[in-house]
Formats: sequence, C-alpha cells, structure tokens
Amino acid sequence: MDKIKHGSARYKGPSYQDLLNWETRPVPPALRATTDTYLGSEPLSTDCYLTREQHEREKENLWPCVWQSLCRETEISEPGAFFVHDIGATSVLVVRTKDNAIKAFPNACLHRGRQLKSGGDSGLGNSVDITCPFHGFRWNLEGHFEGAPCQWDFAHLDEKNFDLPALRLDTWGGWVFVNIDGKAPPLREYLGVVVDHFQRWAPEKTYKSLHIKKVIRCNWKLAHEAFIESYHTVATHPQLLPYTGDSNSQYDCFSNIVSRTITPMGVVSPHASGTTEEQSVHQWLTVYGMAAGGELSELPAGMSAREYLGEMNIQRFSEMYQQDLSPFATHSEVLDAILYSVFPNFAPWAGYRPNVTYRFLPYNDSHEMCTMEIMLMMRFPESEARPPDASVQFVPADQTLAETPGIEAGLAAVFDQDFSNLPMVHKGLHSLQSGQIELANYQEVRIRHFHQVLDKYLNAGEGEER
Ligand code: FES
Ligand SMILES: [Fe+2]
Repeated sequence: MDKIKHGSARYKGPSYQDLLNWETRPVPPALRATTDTYLGSEPLSTDCYLTREQHEREKENLWPCVWQSLCRETEISEPGAFFVHDIGATSVLVVRTKDNAIKAFPNACLHRGRQLKSGGDSGLGNSVDITCPFHGFRWNLEGHFEGAPCQWDFAHLDEKNFDLPALRLDTWGGWVFVNIDGKAPPLREYLGVVVDHFQRWAPEKTYKSLHIKKVIRCNWKLAHEAFIESYHTVATHPQLLPYTGDSNSQYDCFSNIVSRTITPMGVVSPHASGTTEEQSVHQWLTVYGMAAGGELSELPAGMSAREYLGEMNIQRFSEMYQQDLSPFATHSEVLDAILYSVFPNFAPWAGYRPNVTYRFLPYNDSHEMCTMEIMLMMRFPESEARPPDASVQFVPADQTLAETPGIEAGLAAVFDQDFSNLPMVHKGLHSLQSGQIELANYQEVRIRHFHQVLDKYLNAGEGEER
C-alpha cells in the first residue's frame, strides 16, 4: 500500500465545503475554516488506556496543567452558592462570593486536610461561609480565615496568612474554568479559535435544559474518542445513514487545544445510496420524534432534503427563540453536528440548534470507569427571564438512556448504541496481543491529535512549554 499523501485520504464525493457552496445565506468564516491535517499513520499503544501508571501520570501532568471546565456561572449565581469538582483523587471548590465574584480553592481544610465541601452527584450546594465540619476552622466566602475553636492552641499560626489559596479561574461562554497549577496560558489564548468562532453563537446566552451524567465502564479517553469521529456511524448507528453525511465529514485540528468535526446532516450517507431525498427527510423526522404526520410523500420540486430540513429548522428555532434567524442562519448551523473539542475533555457543539456539550472525566479516580456528561444548551427568548439550569441526572453504568427521562427516544437510542460499544472496547484492548491499535488517517485524525498533545503534556519537564 502506498503511503498516504497529505490531504489525499478523503471521500471522493461532495465535501462539507462543497455543501457550503450551496448555502443561500452568507457562510461565516468559522465554517469556511479548515486545516486539512495529516499527523502520521503509526499505530497507537494501548497502554495509555489500560495502565494505572498512565492514569497517575495524567493526575500529575495533565489535569492540573490544563484549563478545566467546571460549571455554569448561572448555577452559582447567589452569594454562598458553590460547586465541587472532583478530578482524580483531588477536589476543587468554586464559590460565589458576597460581592458576586467567583473564586476557586483546593477543596481541603488547612488544619488537617478534611475536604471542606461535598456537593453530591450534582456538585452543587449553598453555604454562608466555608466551615470545616471536622473541628470547625472557618473561612468566609472570599477565602479569608475567620477563626477556629480554641484558637489559643494555634499561637503558631499567623491568622493573617491563613487564607484558603485561590486557584486561577476565568470564565468564557457562561462556563467557569479553573487551571490548578496556574501555569497554563491565559484562558482566551488557550481557547484560541473557539473564542472567535463562538462569538456568533453566543453560548453565554444559553441555559442548561438537560444534564445527564452517565457512568461508563471504560477509560475516559475511550469515551471521548467515540464522540470525535463520525466514522463509526455506518456500523454503530445505521439508522442515521439516510440523513447523515458521515464520510463527507470535515475534521480540523486548529491548535494543540482545539479540534473539530463537522458532520453534515440532511444529506444521504455515501453508505446508503438508493435512499431518496424524501426518505432522508422522513428518517430525520423519525429520529427526532417528529414523524407523527406520517411519510412525507414528496418534496417541493427541486428541493433537497438538506434545504427542506434547513428551512424547517430555521423556522422552528426562530419560533422557539422568538428571534428571526432567517436572514443569517445557514442550513449548516441549524442542522449539522458541529462539534469542537477543547483539550482535554470539554466538547461543545456549535450552531443555532439546541446544542449538546460533552464532558468526560475519570470516575472515582478509576482508569477503568468514567463519566460522560451530556448537557443540552438551549437559547431562550431574550424578552423572557432566563430559565433555571437543569440539575444533574446521574445514570449508573447499568442504566440505559432509554430508561432515563428527559431525552428524546430516538436520540437516547443513538447514545445507547455508543455506550454499548465502550465497555467492549476497554475489554477488547486487554486481549490485543500486539498491544497497539490502528487509526484512520483522516477520519480519526482528531484521536491521533489528542494523543500527540496528551504525550506532550505527560512528557513535558518542569517549566517546559507544552
Ligand atoms: S480538619 Fe478541618 S477543622 Fe480540622
Ligand atoms: Fe456515536
């Protein structure tokens, strides 16, 4: 087999960029951007998923060094509201202070180390101050030390220098981010093109209408990787093929931190040739629970499924948000899966549709279990009060999304298909005698990109640039 040449591993039919040429409204530069990245074809060692040693290295050299997304600013909107974020063996406490700022601290008492707050499955809670339940050392919401019982016994402590150490914190798009070691580049620099690209879609104007936290029996990276390629659609989600341009997808690696897949919808998959445009529309409506009207007998003359569904969604979402999207929203922005990843584990969808945002984390400090969070971010009419953010629904490993309320049956089925693979991937990796896996040159380039960046983090020496 000839070695792959840069840019040659592509489906030969219409690309996502070709589909953009048929848009009737101006296409934003964010969608025109493409990187055409080839990062090599070497196999990948399975050790990074299976060994405890790798997990410990990630705890040391990955999680503290990145910007981690924690919660929505609106979830801790009142003074005293807090959020607890557990990562590996450690925990971060984020609080809304009296003067409406947000602060983050290592979630540990400076006396004998008890975890200061626990937020249960949701991570959320409320408190007038930060008092340790063990012996009662007390800090105010700003983290200033306020005293301890029998303080005469701590004459050796300088109470003026006994504040909780603040962690580096910043916000973007309504999300609170923390960088634990304080050495990452500024958040906006870290987010790179995400800042520019998302300006148009204004995630800060959305609220969280659904939040599912699903436990999966696999390494957290395997779960993440199942959601950054559309290559698996043909085998895992065949019901999507009538309206999903899986092999027409575009994959971009913009920087070490940001990558993206755009999978066009409302186009028939190259794997499902013979599907009519009407069948394409019908299947889309079925999966989204909107096919109650029965089969669509005929599309207006000359209209494609993409055009039909695009215009339909522009109208639906305009009504939903009470904002006329028709002058500027492209079909891509109301139909397609436009999925960004911010290294290492935060993945917001983009566009004007109700967009999910994913987050992947090791579960209970395990390298063999993880949680995947599925958060549905919704726009709302600007004339109306912001609806409250949904609280977390915890879904144990053995519960399917079909059994979980609040998620459309057709979409729950898609996630359950993914979740049925993941424990089998983790298990299968143990049986691979070669100790390595193979990756597609283009459609799995984001996985290769992720691992190359992860290795940079894990191998960076003290003070070295990542
Ligand atoms: S450990 Fe917190 S007050 Fe003693
Ligand atoms: Fe999937």
